[in-house]
Amino acid sequence: MSDGAPRICYLDGEFLPLAEARVSVLDRGFIFGDAVYEVLVALKGRLFALEEHLERFERSLAAVHIAAPLDAAAWRSVLERLVTENGGGDHSVYLQVTRGVAERDHAFPVNVAPTVFAMCRPLTPREGLDRVDAVTLTDNRWLRCDIKATALLANLLLRNLALAAGAYEAVLLRDGEVTEGSSSNVFVVKDGRVWTPPLSHLILPGVTRALLLDVLEGCGIEVAEATVDEALLRAADEVWFTSTTRDLVAVARLDGRVVGDGTQPLAERAWREFQRYKEFRLR
Ligand SMILES: Cc1ncc(COP(=O)(O)O)c(C=O)c1O
Repeated sequence: MSDGAPRICYLDGEFLPLAEARVSVLDRGFIFGDAVYEVLVALKGRLFALEEHLERFERSLAAVHIAAPLDAAAWRSVLERLVTENGGGDHSVYLQVTRGVAERDHAFPVNVAPTVFAMCRPLTPREGLDRVDAVTLTDNRWLRCDIKATALLANLLLRNLALAAGAYEAVLLRDGEVTEGSSSNVFVVKDGRVWTPPLSHLILPGVTRALLLDVLEGCGIEVAEATVDEALLRAADEVWFTSTTRDLVAVARLDGRVVGDGTQPLAERAWREFQRYKEFRLR
């Protein structure tokens, strides 16, 4: 985005300045959080892992019974143009579909066009592996965390509890088992093996999670998609968070205690390999 140029967004078929975009107060996204979303990145102006993100987006839409308003080719062209309109370069790209505008009623309305919105925001590239502090919190979210729904109040409360405790993110525990972070997936390392909780309705199927598992396996690192109980978390040599906008972040201290010996060597290696993988995919 060139200096001073307005940020451009997409709303229901139109590209316009973000500051001018307007949605009805009767939009069910506003009234109920009746909406799903997706976040991906554009690097050097090119959309990274678009197919994987669109696949998950279509699953989220289907799970909440909203008919997909655009097909994959149309999404690609909207998002590519959005990035170009904003000057290319590195961006996080957000897209959202709500069930549309209707009189407030819990019952789904019929014959209502979904609201389609997308925006992007400049992304500062990371120079290296970030290290953060984390705290454990009880996962008190709903039981459909596999849907990327905009109704994120529980996640917001958890994230802000973590921030209030001086941490960056929370490792969430449900019935003594790790689920994920408030806006990330969780990996742990023990004795050279990498563990991450299996996919289920309790976690978001993170795109970074899936790509990183492939990258690790490609490097000959042993990975297990298996239950991570609290004992394994506390005994871990390393703990990582993964997400689209941050890639992989290592946990330096968990609940105030240094994780492992504090060096996170596998996280360093995984971060470098993941950067290489991104460059390879964007060639
Ligand atoms: C709850 C939750 N889990 C996991 C993730 C990571 O998913 P991805 O790697 O696709 O960004 C996110 C990303 O926002 C999230 O909100």
